[in-house]
Amino acid sequence: MIETIYKEKYVDNELLDEIKIFYSKVGDALSGGPVVDTTEHSTIYGKDGCADRPLRLEFKKNPIHKLIGKLKADMGDFHIHEGSIRYLYYPFGPHSDVRTSEHLLESRKRYRDGYTFLIPLQWKDGCTPGTAFFDSPPKEDQQLMIERPDVIPQTKNPNYSKNFGIKQLIPWKNPGDLVGWMNYQYHSSMIGGDWVYNDSEWCKEFISIETFRFKE
Ligand SMILES: [Fe+2]
Repeated sequence: MIETIYKEKYVDNELLDEIKIFYSKVGDALSGGPVVDTTEHSTIYGKDGCADRPLRLEFKKNPIHKLIGKLKADMGDFHIHEGSIRYLYYPFGPHSDVRTSEHLLESRKRYRDGYTFLIPLQWKDGCTPGTAFFDSPPKEDQQLMIERPDVIPQTKNPNYSKNFGIKQLIPWKNPGDLVGWMNYQYHSSMIGGDWVYNDSEWCKEFISIETFRFKE
């Protein structure tokens, strides 16, 4: 299986507009939002996180079903275990998306690893969006994350950063691009530009769909 995927304009403008119009009509309030990160891997921003809107898969006419159908046709069938429309307020440092050890054990009983799919819908002027992937421990020939504070959100504790080598940088080029990665790889938001992260305005809006593949 390919570990990371990037396809420009995977979602055409027509479907992208349908999806945006659908979610603005449903008009769900954003839930969650940025939280203070007190863990040892906190970024220098001291906060991280997104607000979310539900995917609303229960609506048969939701145009996101067309996108999910296309993903299944291209990548093989999958089970969606988590998904939302996400609004990023503060960038995420390197993390793996593993919820808990218990969740990992349970999902392994029922499923095989699958992909997380991320499709940007829009971003604000001044924000330079992207997703970075890491190897931990770093490979010998890799740049370390501490060598790229221009694009990788750095951690408050530099000791935590030592374990991450930059595997791949994927700047988002267009709304509708597809970023995909096999579960549990370390990844982070990319930073850059002159956007000032704050509590009141999100900088990036994207579809997030986390999947597992079915056991044979
Ligand atoms: Fe993540």
